[in-house]
This record gives sequence, structure tokens and C-alpha cells, in this order.
Amino acid sequence: MDGQSKSASIPLTSQHEAAREPESGFGWEAKYKRLESLGSGGGAEVFEVIDQRTGEHVALKVSKWSGEDLRRFRREVEILRNLHHENVIPILDDGDNWYTMPLAVGNLTSLAPEMCDEALIEAISQAAKGLAAAYAKEVFHRDVTPNNILRVEQRWVVSDFGLAKRPKGLSGVPTTQGFVGTRGYAAPEVELYGADRADQHSDMFSLGRVVCFITTGKPPQMFHERILVPRIWESLVEKMTAIEISERFQSMNELQPALLEVERRLKEQRRDEWVKKGNASEDLNQQELITLALITQETDHDFRERELCDRLQKHKRGFFNIGLLRLRHRNFIEDHEDDRGERWGLRLTDVARDWLRVNGDRLSPYFVPTVETPPSDDDNIPF
Ligand SMILES: Nc1ncnc2c1ncn2[C@@H]1O[C@H](COP(=O)(O)OP(=O)(O)O)[C@@H](O)[C@H]1O
Ligand SMILES: [Mg+2]
Repeated sequence: MDGQSKSASIPLTSQHEAAREPESGFGWEAKYKRLESLGSGGGAEVFEVIDQRTGEHVALKVSKWSGEDLRRFRREVEILRNLHHENVIPILDDGDNWYTMPLAVGNLTSLAPEMCDEALIEAISQAAKGLAAAYAKEVFHRDVTPNNILRVEQRWVVSDFGLAKRPKGLSGVPTTQGFVGTRGYAAPEVELYGADRADQHSDMFSLGRVVCFITTGKPPQMFHERILVPRIWESLVEKMTAIEISERFQSMNELQPALLEVERRLKEQRRDEWVKKGNASEDLNQQELITLALITQETDHDFRERELCDRLQKHKRGFFNIGLLRLRHRNFIEDHEDDRGERWGLRLTDVARDWLRVNGDRLSPYFVPTVETPPSDDDNIPF
């Protein structure tokens, strides 16, 4: 899936062969038929396999480690066994040096280019929830990258806890020294001071770099490289990837409202574009503009058409009524009901209000000085 792993035959070394025959004698080969390789990283290779008992296609992760080093792999299995959350990859079955999990349709690297902004926001939001679930068990991921965020059964899940840090005293694996993670995604404190400094704050930085990647398509190189993301994402990314830890969002929960804010801005931008485009392709005609000008000038955006009509000279009322019909057809006005659900009159819709926000000044030629006295035949209303 990540492009480096398309080989049809998997070059297993003798060390791998040894690792695949655990002492318990319960290798995955007894239960699963191997299909293609889905990807491989530092310590493991992942294959698509068929569960011979059920015929189901699942993913199998086989460790490249053996002996003492296998403890790291077992730690990953233990962490996953302990984490039950819809945004964390579930573990289905395991042996000494392997485990199986549901088959993903892709990861954020492969799927992001096809995704709209709303879907990207959702992916980050779900990954953040998965990470928060891990923190609740004092587990820090330490390798948050687009490759490790998978699409499984219509959800986004965090996977690959191979570098995760468990609570002190529980790990059974010596403290990791030096660097852990993936360059470009790892936080400055991890780059500068080592794995020991990795926690939820460095995961936040990494997730921010994931946002950089999925919104620009450019893989980040080093932590100090500033990446220009699209404007609506800018402030979010800045706060996720601040060099100073105290300037970042302090928790994954704090990130959620900020993601909603990006979504709100996105909707606003879409509406503006839509309104501008709609306006260019099928412009309001003069009759609609004049009717709209009258409504906005004379009312609070809700009105009784009779009352408004009565203020006009008789021969202009037909013109006004057709203007109303056209605006209704355009979804610019709708029925306005009172508290008891009875039709009270009409009001401008959100579509009209959005249009006014962007195009309001186009009505000014049609505004007329307020008429104090009942209109005579030479009123100023221009129709
Ligand atoms: N459940 C899965 N379904 C499909 N592909 C997967 C699955 N799990 C992992 N992969 C693919 O295999 C790659 C390596 O798996 P990962 O668990 O990240 O191993 P590593 O620890 O070697 O990085 C991932 O980047 C992903 O592309
Ligand atoms: Mg990985």
C-alpha cells in the first residue's frame, strides 16, 4: 500500500524463517493462506491473508525480529489487546511473532489525494479520538504518520503501535534510547532530546505534520521545515506543530473543537464560492434585485407580503408579486411560521442571506429614500 511493498514474492531471510516458527509451534501458516504483501516497515511485514477456517480476508503482521527482540513485538500485541476503541485497530488473533487484524482499504497516504477537506477533517478527528483512547491507558504512540492511520470498515483507526511507549514499569522492554519515530513527523523535543521525551505532546506535533502532508501532498522533511498549508488549515496546523510544547493544543480533546472550526470556515468558503458562481451563471434579474432591495430596505428579513404590497401603488403590485415568485423559486424566500406553526408571512432564507453577505452592495442602486407618507403615484420606488 505504501508503494515500497509491491513485490509478489516476499524475500524472507533465514532469520525471518526462524522467527516464523515460534517454540509453541503455532505458526500462522496453519490457519492462514498468504496473499500479497501490503507493506513493510522497520520491524515487520504485513500481508493480506485468507483465514482458512472462515474464508475471510484479513491482514497479518509478521515480525522480522526473533529472540530477545521479539519482546518489542509482543509489547505491541499486548498494547493492542488492551485497547478497545473504534478508532484503534483491533487485534483478531495472534501467535508469538504475528497477529492478525481487519484488512484496511488503504491508509491516509494512499487515500488522502482522493479525499475532500471534510473527509480529511473527519480522518484527523477520528485518529485523535483513537490516540486519546491510548492516552487513557497511558500509552503514547510515538510514530503517528499517514501510513499508520488506516481506513477500516468505514472508520479511521490508528495502527502500528510498534514504537509505542507503555507506562513505566509495565513495558518489560528496556527504555528506548535515541530517536524514535519518522523524520518529518517526529517532534523537535524527540529529535533533539530523544525517545524519552515522546508523549501526547509529541504525538500532537506528529498529527499536525500528518495534516501538513494530507493538505499539501508534500511529505514533511525535518521538524523545523515550515510547510505552507491551505489558508483554512493554517491556524490549526500552527497550533498543532508549535515548536514550544506549551503553545500546542494540550490534549486531543482540545483539538476537536478546533477541527470543527476548520469545518465551519470551509463551509463558509464553499457557500461564498457557490453564491458567487451561482450568481455568475444565473444572475438575479432586475425584477428580483428590485424586489429584494424593497424587502431588505423595508423589513427585518421577515414580512407579510400583503403589508408590503399595500405600500406600493396598484400597478406595481403585479411586478412585486412576480418578483416574489421568482425569489421563492430561487430558494431566496420561504414561508415563515409563527409559534403555533401557522403561516405568518415570508422570510429570507439562509441562501438569500449568504447572497446578501457577498453581493449586498449590488442592491444599493435600488434603495430609495424612506417614504414617510403613504405612497402617492409619484413615489420613489423605481417600478
Ligand atoms: N490492517 C491492515 N490492512 C492493510 N494494510 C495494512 C494493515 N496494517 C498495515 N498495513 C500496511 O502495512 C504497512 C506496514 O504496517 P505497520 O503496522 O505500520 O508496520 P511497521 O511497524 O513495519 O511500520 C502500513 O504502512 C500499511 O500500509
Ligand atoms: Mg508503520
